[in-house]
Amino acid sequence: MQVAARGRRAAVSAATPGCSGREREATVASARSAAAKQRATSLRDDFYEKIKPRLYQRIGDELREARCVLDLGCGGCQLGRFLAETYSQQVIGVDMSDGSFPERHELRSRTRTLLRCVKADARRLGFLAAGAVDAEIMLWALHEIRQPRAVLVEARRVLRLGGKLLIADFPRGSLAQHLCNEDYYTPDQVSDLLAATGYVNISVGLVERRQVLWAKGLRSARKELTG
Ligand SMILES: C[S@@+](CC[C@H](N)C(=O)[O-])C[C@H]1O[C@@H](n2cnc3c(N)ncnc32)[C@H](O)[C@@H]1O
Repeated sequence: MQVAARGRRAAVSAATPGCSGREREATVASARSAAAKQRATSLRDDFYEKIKPRLYQRIGDELREARCVLDLGCGGCQLGRFLAETYSQQVIGVDMSDGSFPERHELRSRTRTLLRCVKADARRLGFLAAGAVDAEIMLWALHEIRQPRAVLVEARRVLRLGGKLLIADFPRGSLAQHLCNEDYYTPDQVSDLLAATGYVNISVGLVERRQVLWAKGLRSARKELTG
């Protein structure tokens, strides 16, 4: 792979007199980032609000086989409510802050039995046994987490063998970055994070007009060897 890439770079620089492989790569990267900026700024500011119902549906489809879903960095547990009400899934929402958790009386009685919102740091999920949940979602949360590796390792511990972790977040260069002036991960960075924390079958892409980073990884179906 590296040899092939080196060969390609050499061919590109030979075909572009006066331009080294590195310069050429920098030019391509800067053109890509300009294109991403143009794409992002051509969207309306309410883009993310508009796509929310479709995104929830997409998440529901992706995790439809799970009986119990863990939502890490759940905020007000809105997605958890949706999953419980639409798919009758059992959902555990975890957030460091319980400030926007719904009041019990605001929930339908069926949802009340399915949804549990827990105030906890996702780095330490001691209230969950190893392999306790079938699937996990982190929606708009990864970029806010201070020690993402610690959270991803703990998330893998509580995921059942073969279970799926789904991350949906703002990617670098997206409209969100222009609106909020925050820095976000690139797909490659998220892929590296998932690999470094032991997930397998990793796939990372951009969906919804490239404004949402969509990453998946599995906990290996076989018990990992330790030591
Ligand atoms: C931008 S909000 C997203 C909330 C929700 N997922 C949504 O879709 O609206 C990110 C959330 O991650 C939570 N968070 C950040 N670090 C955390 C951690 N280590 N453990 C638990 N929650 C965390 C924050 O408190 C915040 O509510």
